[in-house]
Amino acid sequence: MQLIDGKATATTIKAEIAAEVELIVENGGKRPHLAAILVGHDGGSETYVKNKVIACEQCGFKSTLIRFEDNVSEAELLAEVKRLNQDEDIDGFIVQLPLPRHISEQKVIEAIDYRKDVDGFHPINVGRMSIGLPCYISATPNGILELLKRYKIKTAGKKCVILGRSNIVGKPMAQLMMQKRIPGDATVTICHSHTKNLKEECRQADIIIAAIGIPNFVTADMVKPGAVVIDVGTTRVPDATRKSGFRLNGDVKFDEVAPLCSYISPVPGGVGPMTICSLMKNTLSAGKKEFYK
Ligand code: GUN
Repeated sequence: MQLIDGKATATTIKAEIAAEVELIVENGGKRPHLAAILVGHDGGSETYVKNKVIACEQCGFKSTLIRFEDNVSEAELLAEVKRLNQDEDIDGFIVQLPLPRHISEQKVIEAIDYRKDVDGFHPINVGRMSIGLPCYISATPNGILELLKRYKIKTAGKKCVILGRSNIVGKPMAQLMMQKRIPGDATVTICHSHTKNLKEECRQADIIIAAIGIPNFVTADMVKPGAVVIDVGTTRVPDATRKSGFRLNGDVKFDEVAPLCSYISPVPGGVGPMTICSLMKNTLSAGKKEFYK
């Protein structure tokens, strides 16, 4: 069994990005600039955004954090999105999700100029990704692809079962695993809350990507010996022994599943650090106007 070390891989990639940024700047180019909008004070979102700002520093990017209180109106938020769309110094920006209930996330996502949508959530980027055109790919699926690539895990012709059908992970992951390139070329099955014989589906999988948000959902009896297991779960569960009062729990019952696997990604330290790293790669692409002029 080999552990997939997302933390170390992310550190390597951020160093690669930082080196490229210094070359760009030395040659008179512009330092990439990422902005993030954070609404309210959700603990998870605060942590994610803080880590994104730290990652920007590590990559040599400029970053700007824009905060609103929970009671910001949808119109105010849309006006800020419009302002960022027009700000020429900002190469890419994100609006951290989830948003308060009175604001339509879809409306906000669609208001973002797709050329600055480094989260890859705009329908133009989602559509281009699904037909294999150059675009911003959402961070978590792209981070998983990067891990598969760097660990030289074979995907062509493999049976890949994805647990979960979210717009952010499950759906794009399925598109990417079936695409005609490497990593890709897999035979993909998506399982969700209405799937019959979910255990049997999993047992046939060469690769399981678990993104359902139910702690310890994937148990040893669902995993074929030699399978690759990627754990996307990050559920916060109370833990009195931690200073924060919680710990992150994956979707996979690691202790019993790991001995069966050829490769497995742990939580924390697996997919999580790669997600932010993918956002950094997209920001570098935005700075270089790699996909869109
Ligand atoms: N909330 C959870 N994941 C993400 C993400 O990748 N981007 C944004 N903007 N919000 C999120």
